[in-house]
Amino acid sequence: MKKIIIAIDGFSGCGKSTTAKAVARALDYTYLDSGAMYRAATLHFLNNFTNLTNPKQIQKSLSGMDVSFHYNEQEGIQQVFLNGLNVEEEIRSMAVSDQVSEVSKIGEVRKAMVEKQQKMGKHKGVVMDGRDIGTVVFPNAELKVFMTADLDIRAVRRQKELLEKGEMIELEKVKKNLEHRDKMDTGRKESPLKKADDAVELDTSYLQFDEQVSRILELARQRMN
Ligand code: DC
Repeated sequence: MKKIIIAIDGFSGCGKSTTAKAVARALDYTYLDSGAMYRAATLHFLNNFTNLTNPKQIQKSLSGMDVSFHYNEQEGIQQVFLNGLNVEEEIRSMAVSDQVSEVSKIGEVRKAMVEKQQKMGKHKGVVMDGRDIGTVVFPNAELKVFMTADLDIRAVRRQKELLEKGEMIELEKVKKNLEHRDKMDTGRKESPLKKADDAVELDTSYLQFDEQVSRILELARQRMN
């Protein structure tokens, strides 16, 4: 069976990363969370008090930023590092979520991230999730999936996730954040979130987790042959 690239795009909070992780584990592929890279960049900008409307400050901040993935044996996944520090937990905070759309619409940031992502996919055998993976990062990916789910259902799922990490956020606030990010992700000039023409759409609103994983695995195995 040949190795392929699996690109999973879709709206915030519709289960892309948990699904992509399970797909990668089943195929013994590398899972790469491109959103984590934009989150790490956001954390870096926040830490440096970078003014997002000042191109010079953005350039300066970018030149002092190193975002990379390192395999965590215990967790069995790639985790994101910012300038040598594991920031996997910190980047999921609401403070980062509130700013990440602003950072991810900056052209220079996207250019730097896309270059890294393409390098990471050079040898295939990769499952990458994000917003522009099937359209910009890997337009020739053998399998492209576009995931969607109802906003209310996504908000409940995301609230539960945050609670498990010890952050208690009102449902309405979580919903507003998702809504805002959907609007920013689909409306931005640089690489807006959209379904690639050749992507398979998967609405996960009423799907069991195992079902969504096995649907993608079935499609992947067809493409590998
Ligand atoms: O997947 P996530 O929710 O962790 O992503 C965080 C943000 O990063 C999201 O609001 C949009 C942005 N993002 C992006 O612009 N392009 C990607 N390939 C991945 C994420």
